[in-house]
Amino acid sequence: MPVLHVRTNGGAREIPFLAGACVRAILIANGLGVRSDCGGVGSCGHCRVQILSGEMPPPNSVEIRRLRPEQLNHGLRLACELFPTSDLTLWVPALAESVRWQLLAEDDLVAIEIPSDNEAGDGLGAAVDLGTTHIRVSVWDLGTQVRLGARMCLNPQLAFGSDVMTRLVAARGSSDAAAQISRLASQAIGGAIEQIVESAGRGSARLCQATIVGNTAMLALLSKQGCELLLKPEYWTREVDFQPATVADLKEDLRVGSSGAVSLIPSVAGFVGSDLLAGLLATELTKQAKPAMLIDFGTNSEMALWDGGTLWTTSAAGGPAFEGTGITCGMSAEEGAIFRVEDVGGYLQCDVIGYGAAKGVCGSGLVDVIACLLRRGALSRGGRFSHEISLAGFSICDNDGGVLLSPRDVDAFQRAKGAVGAGTADLLEKAGLEVRDIRRLCVCGAFGQHLNVPNAQAVGLVPQVPVEAVELWANSAIAGCELMLLSGARRSECGKLRAMAKNINLACEASFEKRFIDNLSLQPFEARRLEDKQCLMRS
Ligand code: FES
Repeated sequence: MPVLHVRTNGGAREIPFLAGACVRAILIANGLGVRSDCGGVGSCGHCRVQILSGEMPPPNSVEIRRLRPEQLNHGLRLACELFPTSDLTLWVPALAESVRWQLLAEDDLVAIEIPSDNEAGDGLGAAVDLGTTHIRVSVWDLGTQVRLGARMCLNPQLAFGSDVMTRLVAARGSSDAAAQISRLASQAIGGAIEQIVESAGRGSARLCQATIVGNTAMLALLSKQGCELLLKPEYWTREVDFQPATVADLKEDLRVGSSGAVSLIPSVAGFVGSDLLAGLLATELTKQAKPAMLIDFGTNSEMALWDGGTLWTTSAAGGPAFEGTGITCGMSAEEGAIFRVEDVGGYLQCDVIGYGAAKGVCGSGLVDVIACLLRRGALSRGGRFSHEISLAGFSICDNDGGVLLSPRDVDAFQRAKGAVGAGTADLLEKAGLEVRDIRRLCVCGAFGQHLNVPNAQAVGLVPQVPVEAVELWANSAIAGCELMLLSGARRSECGKLRAMAKNINLACEASFEKRFIDNLSLQPFEARRLEDKQCLMRS
């Protein structure tokens, strides 16, 4: 059997493999996930490996299209396009983020009001927000109602694609892949629970309850149920049952005791998941008479509009740009990320999380830099750089090879924004409301933590409501999940929200494509709607 000799920053591995197997698959199967945002179809160009020795045919047309000539000259190839038949030695420069948990301090979390009907009993319980890009976990002492700790990490399922569709297709491809995708998440969550429990001095105690919220696809991938249905458009408006046939494996991975329970909170319908319902619980959006909106920016962005009597919901798959992945120098909002950019007299001043050297840019930094370039005329509303910016893109900061904003990144941002803008416009139309009617706007998701609202409004990401009406809720879904972990009454409330939601499937809306295209433009949302109307009146 030939052997793959793998060199990474973390050391060397020797992996025997079947001749003709795909290098990407070999690496993933051996816990060495390379970045593969497209799920291995050759369209993202991120699964780069360098051939150090061994015989391989010359680069194919996909590799020539995705890699620059100098990269090809250095022996860089795409792991998803390599099918070796003999020994090969590789350097893998960009392993998909191994599970690296980041502490979520109390200040990062929502201070939830402990429900008075705490019926969770004694023992330990975990709340989990299983996101497409990030996973958040908190562990509680259910008896004393004290949070023992919380963690966040990149979802290791990113090795199977950055968006839910790519992962669903991978899971459909083979039962092995489906099992692997599921376990990547469950074992990661279990790792966080173990860390928190041990740091709280509770030794190897097991949980009596784990409550999990997430978008429908993420819960289906975790339970390995319903994935197939989510790939059929007729199910995008229906409720999909993803409850697992057995929770024995999940319990084991999540460190839940044999008499404990694992609850996957049911979704609304289609891709509108229980993370949105949890966000609605935490923000209490529907407890007011005036119209209010919640936008949870993510790889699969979810939106809810409360018009005072009806709850409208929808979701839009915009790609992972808001979460800082899928862009050239993107990263999540953690140490080393440029999270704020200001134009100070023509010079861009970058603030970095942790105050050290910049390693990349997260979603809020991306919004700021785009807004700054728009204001100084270096970027057009259509997303084109002016002539003085090099073809490779704009250098946000010159540190250690630089943090670059490429034309492709601007395009990814515009697409993500276009999808959310189209969803927002659609919900407003369904409710018969205008942007000016919205009295409260909750911006949720990690992205919301450092968001500069005027900048987000200038690029058309957030509707033009008064700045004081915008609330930033970085961790609303985990907060709502915690409420459900602690209270049966809040779980019932979640059920009522689910029952009352009128869910819109944007893919079935005739106006979606036009709205998506309108919202690609980097200009304020309200202005564009008015132009839209004038345009419609003229036609
Ligand atoms: S090009 Fe995307 S995984 Fe290979």
